[in-house]
Amino acid sequence: MKLIRAKDYKDMSRKAANFLSAQVILKENSVLGLATGGTAEGIYEQLVEWYRKGDIDFSSVSTINLDEYVGLDGTNEQSYRYFMNYHLFSQINVKEKNCHLPNGMADNIDEECARYDRLIEKLGGIDMQLLGIGENGHIGFNEPDEAFEQMTHCINLKEGTIEANSRYFATREDVPKRAITMGIKAIMQAKAIVLCASGAKKADILQKVLYGPVTPEVPGSVLQMHPRLIVVADEEALGK
Ligand code: GLP
Repeated sequence: MKLIRAKDYKDMSRKAANFLSAQVILKENSVLGLATGGTAEGIYEQLVEWYRKGDIDFSSVSTINLDEYVGLDGTNEQSYRYFMNYHLFSQINVKEKNCHLPNGMADNIDEECARYDRLIEKLGGIDMQLLGIGENGHIGFNEPDEAFEQMTHCINLKEGTIEANSRYFATREDVPKRAITMGIKAIMQAKAIVLCASGAKKADILQKVLYGPVTPEVPGSVLQMHPRLIVVADEEALGK
């Protein structure tokens, strides 16, 4: 594991964006595994800034996102598709056809999950996966469980996750109760992983993820086994 210490959120964002940017510069047709959430916003902002300056070209890049809420389509401002369009895809020269998220509106969710796994395989796997961390240790929407779920699957979100994510919705009741998430296998098969964390709220869980026992009760702990894990975290998140 490579641990990069950042001063604060902005510093974390720039330091994490450095890795994604280097990945794309070194391999133009990279497959980037992307994440949503407050942690990722600043990283995308930084990438957009560098793109505008002419430093990065995304025209041959493919992206594959970790997860999507069930029941929200891309026009819904709370959907992850909307988040990605807004914060990144619409601001850079990545091709729309190369930007992939699970379809939360699919009639057959099981078939959609299987399609997503086939797609990851067809893309040749993920070159670099960006990850945030949920306060209960979830990565993507792989929630604490008795076993690591390998494949893309539909998950019932935990109460704590619904609570944490309700800040983006008008009311708590509006938060979808289910989501489609990439499984642990595709994440762990990524050639490199950039795990990011910022703020005191992440300090406890980051300590468990990085130094606690590897257990599906703390899904992110599996990352300890990854041969190329890069952790970019700010002082507050590293407080424990
Ligand atoms: C969300 C997403 C995750 C994200 C996490 C942390 O539920 N599904 O991919 O990493 O929660 O979010 P944030 O970065 O806003 O703290």
